[in-house]
Amino acid sequence: MRKHPLATGIIGGIVGTLLVAVAVWLTIVYTGAYNVAASDQHADAVRWTLDTAMHRSVARQAGAIEMPDEPSEELIAAGARHYAESCVHCHGAPGAEPAQWSRGMRPEPPRLTEAATEWTPEEIHWIVSNGIKMTGMPAFGPHHSPQEVAALTAFVGALPGLTGEDYAALTGSGESAGGAAHHEAE
Ligand code: HEC
Repeated sequence: MRKHPLATGIIGGIVGTLLVAVAVWLTIVYTGAYNVAASDQHADAVRWTLDTAMHRSVARQAGAIEMPDEPSEELIAAGARHYAESCVHCHGAPGAEPAQWSRGMRPEPPRLTEAATEWTPEEIHWIVSNGIKMTGMPAFGPHHSPQEVAALTAFVGALPGLTGEDYAALTGSGESAGGAAHHEAE
């Protein structure tokens, strides 16, 4: 069979482009050109890639989870106590600063009082259970019971509406978050 010269050219172009892309990728990986220092921000393209992959992946996988419509006060209160133990040092809470060391993470763990509004309860449940690769967000599912994960989810969902006093009352912590949060030194 005779090959059409245009088709051969197009295929050659595609293969050539792919080879160049692989060469650039391998060069970046092997030469150490990408700065992995957490003190340096991600390059915009890398941040966009990780962030978009994360949002799409969570949305896709969280669809299978069924959550109760209205979590009970007890569940939220139980979640607050787990949150003070396991989360506040990275994500802060109303009236409680995150630990200073967590500000050195890339990506920086977001304040969930705001960030939680972007996610559905199903998505929050999925994130808490499974964690997020390459961000430092741990998976709590493997070593927390389903009840604890459900309580944490209920509490994170309620976070945007809470005041500092609500948080202190729920965690019984007075002014500090169970000793887990460190106020900024400066
Ligand atoms: C060691 C620090 C650390 C701890 C502890 C931690 N997280 Fe995270 N968390 C992160 C980081 C980092 C991200 C990802 C931020 C990003 O990529 O935007 C994240 C993301 C999240 C998100 C998605 C928010 C968003 O918009 O990115 C939720 C919800 C969340 N964490 C809940 C929790 C809960 C609940 C706990 C406690 C059970 C917890 N996290 C403990 C570091 C932590």
